[in-house]
Amino acid sequence: MSHHDNSGTYPLGGRQVRRLGYGAMQLAGPGVFGPPKDLDAARAVLREALALGVDHIDTSDFYGPHVTNRLIREALHPYPEALTIVTKIGARRDDKGGWLLAASNQELEQAVHDNLRNLGLEQLEVVNFRSMLDVHGPAEGSIEAPLAALARLRERGLVRHIGLSNVTMAQVEEAQRIVPIACVQNMYNLVHRNDDAMIDALAGKGIAYVPFFPLGGFSPLQSDALSRVAQRLEATPMQVAIAWLLQRSPNILLIPGTSSVAHLRENLKAGALRLDTVALAELEAIAGVAA
Ligand SMILES: NC(=O)c1ccc[n+]([C@@H]2O[C@H](COP(=O)([O-])OP(=O)(O)OC[C@H]3O[C@@H](n4cnc5c(N)ncnc54)[C@H](OP(=O)(O)O)[C@@H]3O)[C@@H](O)[C@H]2O)c1
Repeated sequence: MSHHDNSGTYPLGGRQVRRLGYGAMQLAGPGVFGPPKDLDAARAVLREALALGVDHIDTSDFYGPHVTNRLIREALHPYPEALTIVTKIGARRDDKGGWLLAASNQELEQAVHDNLRNLGLEQLEVVNFRSMLDVHGPAEGSIEAPLAALARLRERGLVRHIGLSNVTMAQVEEAQRIVPIACVQNMYNLVHRNDDAMIDALAGKGIAYVPFFPLGGFSPLQSDALSRVAQRLEATPMQVAIAWLLQRSPNILLIPGTSSVAHLRENLKAGALRLDTVALAELEAIAGVAA
């Protein structure tokens, strides 16, 4: 696919995936709760992603709950061999849409079975353990017990590879003593740079770093410098935000989220965009200002 040509691939678990993937969270209803108002439109986004060459989709049974996984199954099953679906467990939703911890052995096993059933799979390719020690960001504390439970589910063949989400480097190292870690998914973007050192450390270990909220999340990034760079390069601000992440480190895999086919197409074209040193310097200053 031409829009992917410049962005390349990186290992995720046992496979090479294209660096530009897709995050399905935006396909659920408002507040990531309940179904979207147009189910056909949501399925169309998923089909278009595959048609444009996406081979890595990020999802979870948290989204809806169960909504995005079922949409993925309805739209894409039986899955192409090359498609890697990554899901996450460790939390659940209450009946008002709140996010609760769900990381006991029993809850983790139940979550794996829910994901298998909702996605229509016999084995989950990659499962991220999403730490809920602090729902809003990484917080120190042992994650040994849930990782040991996930390692046992892996030994049973229900899960092929394990990743982590919302974690610190100490937790990555703790987890690596229990089971191989395929990827880390934390919040990171042009403005939110807390994980700069972690990304470089993971690159050294050959571990994929998959930023969530790559475009800023529920309120997409806005900055004068970003708009100026985009205008000069005849690109959109979101394309520049994606291109910046692609150039930031080779182990970064992108999963920008959108509920719109037009935005999806726009985002995937960012793989062809190169940021020159002037643009990079101007963008670097955004984080400096925000910090
Ligand atoms: N591990 C975790 O704790 C965690 C947390 C959050 C998310 N995630 C994962 O990360 C993925 C990405 O995060 P995200 O979707 O929340 O945030 P995001 O990718 O940073 O941004 C999504 C937002 O940007 C908008 N958008 C996308 N493309 C656009 C474009 N070209 N122009 C203008 N607006 C655009 C979307 O609205 P439209 O729908 O209107 O395009 C949506 O509001 C999720 O899908 C999910 O899989 C993981």
